[in-house]
Amino acid sequence: MEGGVNYTRSTPRRHLRLGVVGCGWAGQQAVQAANLVPRTTVLAVADMDEERRTHTVETHKVERTYRDYRELLADGDIDAVYLATNPQVRTPMAIDSFRAGKHTLVQKPHALRAADIRRIEREAVKAGRVLQFCFFMRHFRNYRKLRQQLVEGAIGQIYHARVCVQHNEDMTHSDRDYWLYAYGRMGGALAQHASHELDLAWWCMGCPRPLWAFAARHSPYCKYGGAEGPAEDWLSGLVGFDGGRTIQVEATRMSHVNVGRVFQLFGKDGAVNGTAISRFHRGEYKTREVVKPVDRRRGSDLFFFYEIEDFAKAVAGEIEPDVNADDAYVFTKMLQALYASARRNRRVAIQV
Ligand SMILES: NC(=O)c1ccc[n+]([C@@H]2O[C@H](COP(=O)([O-])OP(=O)(O)OC[C@H]3O[C@@H](n4cnc5c(N)ncnc54)[C@H](O)[C@@H]3O)[C@@H](O)[C@H]2O)c1
Repeated sequence: MEGGVNYTRSTPRRHLRLGVVGCGWAGQQAVQAANLVPRTTVLAVADMDEERRTHTVETHKVERTYRDYRELLADGDIDAVYLATNPQVRTPMAIDSFRAGKHTLVQKPHALRAADIRRIEREAVKAGRVLQFCFFMRHFRNYRKLRQQLVEGAIGQIYHARVCVQHNEDMTHSDRDYWLYAYGRMGGALAQHASHELDLAWWCMGCPRPLWAFAARHSPYCKYGGAEGPAEDWLSGLVGFDGGRTIQVEATRMSHVNVGRVFQLFGKDGAVNGTAISRFHRGEYKTREVVKPVDRRRGSDLFFFYEIEDFAKAVAGEIEPDVNADDAYVFTKMLQALYASARRNRRVAIQV
């Protein structure tokens, strides 16, 4: 692993003016949340799609709009950029963003290849700007509390985790080559959906070093016919870490039964189920919920509220960016290894 980034914060403790690139679901959620986070405002959005751009600007009262993201980057009033585009087009955008001197928040899946994370990181270091990658669940206050309690030993050493995520979606996009449909573009059930919970489990375990991955996949629904083959509708995988620890992941984007969401961590002295800590003692399960601290601020229930607020704090130098480049790099290696294993039908070593 390479060392951390030594950031220079050029905009300390100031209201952060954001530009959002991409006005799809993620971009619109980001605009809505950022306009409610007390220390951020969205000054501009960019999207090649005029209808989406106009809809976003009108719905969320954004002052400036650009077709080309490079025009947004050239806007000197913008301090920081939120990249809500897909990973195929995003790496050059992140590089351009740092070259334009903007702090940058990068959506997940963080990149198509781990090497791209390092390329982006080098530009962030050169520019002396803050680089943060998205995984909004890490910023939820109940998960922060949960992780703190796990670090303090609430369930002992965690030896295994299980995550299962179902997200039934209509794959009706008119372009059959759309990034969600081709294997290896990080758009299938694993990277697009279950990566949130996989990251959460890994983070709750203290981000141990991954050593190997083993996976199998099925694509009964995806219609993509190109050389890469179809993206996974189902993936089952196992990742092995330092100290013999493991995470089992199951991801589905179409199932005819509700397989439910599973987020479980297993330690010698207890376990986590969702956000509840549980112990089996004298024939009984004793369970307590880790509850979110009360926050009455408008928008604090939105998916991206805390993530954007924490990004603004990182830019102000109050906290370190989370997800940082090292975590994004190792996590992308993990995803790549799971994909490679399912393609080759064998266990794949992970070198970080
Ligand atoms: N954190 C989450 O919970 C979450 C949820 C959904 C999506 N995402 C991620 O966010 C990203 C975007 O997802 P989405 O569902 O909004 O995708 P989308 O494809 O619906 O939207 C992306 C938008 O970017 C625009 N765009 C693409 N290239 C551009 C360019 N060169 N210049 C300007 N605009 C450009 C497209 O026109 C489109 O409107 C994906 O990586 C996805 O995985 C994250």
